[in-house]
Amino acid sequence: MKRKWWHDKIACQLYPKSYCDSNGDGIGDLQGIISKLDYLKSLGIDIVWLSPIYQSPFVDQGYDISDYYKIAPEFGTMEDFDELLAEAKKRDMYIVMDLVINHCSSRHRWFEEAVKNPEGPYGDYFYFRKGKDGKEPSNYRSYFGGSAWEPVKGRRDLYYYHMFAREQPDLNWYNPSVLRELYDMINWWLEKGVAGFRIDAIINIQKNLDFPDYPADGPDGLCALGTVIEHASGIGEMLEDLKRNTFEKYQAFTVGEVFNMREEELEEFVGEDGHFSSMFDFSQHLLTMGEHGWYEAKEFDFAAWRKAIFETQKKMEPIGFLSNIIENHDEPRGASTFLPLYVQNAAGIKMLGTIKMFLSGIPFLYQGQEIGMRNCRMQSIEEFDDINTKDQYRLALRMGLNEEEALEVCNRLSRDNARTPMQWSNEEHAGFTTGTPWLKVNPNYHEINVQAQEKEKDSVLNYYRKLTALRKSPDYKETFVYGHFIPAYEETENVIAYYRRDERNCILVLGNWGREEEEIRLPRTVRKVLLNNLPEYLAEGQKLTLLSGQALVLLLQG
Ligand code: NOJ
Repeated sequence: MKRKWWHDKIACQLYPKSYCDSNGDGIGDLQGIISKLDYLKSLGIDIVWLSPIYQSPFVDQGYDISDYYKIAPEFGTMEDFDELLAEAKKRDMYIVMDLVINHCSSRHRWFEEAVKNPEGPYGDYFYFRKGKDGKEPSNYRSYFGGSAWEPVKGRRDLYYYHMFAREQPDLNWYNPSVLRELYDMINWWLEKGVAGFRIDAIINIQKNLDFPDYPADGPDGLCALGTVIEHASGIGEMLEDLKRNTFEKYQAFTVGEVFNMREEELEEFVGEDGHFSSMFDFSQHLLTMGEHGWYEAKEFDFAAWRKAIFETQKKMEPIGFLSNIIENHDEPRGASTFLPLYVQNAAGIKMLGTIKMFLSGIPFLYQGQEIGMRNCRMQSIEEFDDINTKDQYRLALRMGLNEEEALEVCNRLSRDNARTPMQWSNEEHAGFTTGTPWLKVNPNYHEINVQAQEKEKDSVLNYYRKLTALRKSPDYKETFVYGHFIPAYEETENVIAYYRRDERNCILVLGNWGREEEEIRLPRTVRKVLLNNLPEYLAEGQKLTLLSGQALVLLLQG
């Protein structure tokens, strides 16, 4: 495999609105991020991915961009951004931007011009279609609920297409002028010095331009966009064209947010010369979401979770690098999701971190994961900000859940769980802001915060530092980055374990999700315990006892 500069890197996603507020307006900003670069460096982070910081009305928290060339004033100025790039560079760190190009904001100039004159040149930047038999042009349900078609004000029987919110009109990727605008913009940011992009919702750019109806899959008579995408084609050529005209020229690191991809396209997407450098592995997150909505959410199932990890790792081994996450700004906190209650504690969180850190692929942390931030309970639906949560709440009520139950599923799955402000200290508002935070701060900040964990030798934070240091240590880095991945102890019910091995090292990573201890027979003797999340280490020769919630990284004899 051709070696690339990003293969051995560790990344961290920041949600700028909630990271660190430097000016007391209750919203995190670029100067706040700059002030935390040393902290990120101390965590072993090389690549910092920023969720969108472009000008936006924030209907979908910046994933609705109204000017791709401007920094949202809430976050600062272009000078602040240039300073961030320079400060990152000084520390050998890379800044990766979010690239939201399936859609823009309805307040983008292109769209404002388009609705004024749908038949004019900007009309063709979007998808305007006539209704069918007095109804929307097709029966598609947008990702955020309701029809994916919105009537154009003042025009009879004319609609525009939006796969997400109505304030996020889809861009017409079949119009060469749109491609030119987007490619120019991407190259402009790359010229500026960004190292690459996380690419939002990209599978959605392919459309069947006839927009045919599909069988309804819910009482609303609509069908999910997943079905619509399954029937679309041409994504490969579109992504190659994008890559050739932009990323490739700069050796940019790109990580795709891709759902609903065809299995057989994996190599094309992330193989050696794939469309992207990497793609997120969401296989485990899909397990709890519920097939038609959060109202059908499923409980965490350890066996299914382990199987999902192993299957992805095995199928990726000959192909390339996926990006491994525990949580992100769209997912609830991993500490509250992937651990049974009896290990929802510091040890369990360290165990989860260990298992994910040494998988093959690129580890992506999400802000606050390194201190074990948890889901934040909201008392009523009004306390949530997220557009998707509000839709899922309404859907849950429609599907027969009562208000309490609907609130409960939102508390479990809401995207706001991971969006609450970063918990820096025990001071008011967790030290995130001196003003009024834009979103509730998790009241547990008195116990869970960076300042306290800096002081505590065995804190989750300091353990995360050990994880990243081990992954990068000269003796083992090659094995963790390029070594084989081999599942282990698959027949042991509550244990997840795997080998990372190459000619130099044989490393066994283990975690016990069970309530009870587990006895394991090791195939070889242990040369060195590289990491242990507990003070105990119970081994006699090749017999090893793994305590509940224990994670070990063992270097085995040859
Ligand atoms: C995926 C992003 O991660 C999510 O936050 C956003 O709502 C949608 N794409 C639409 O851009």
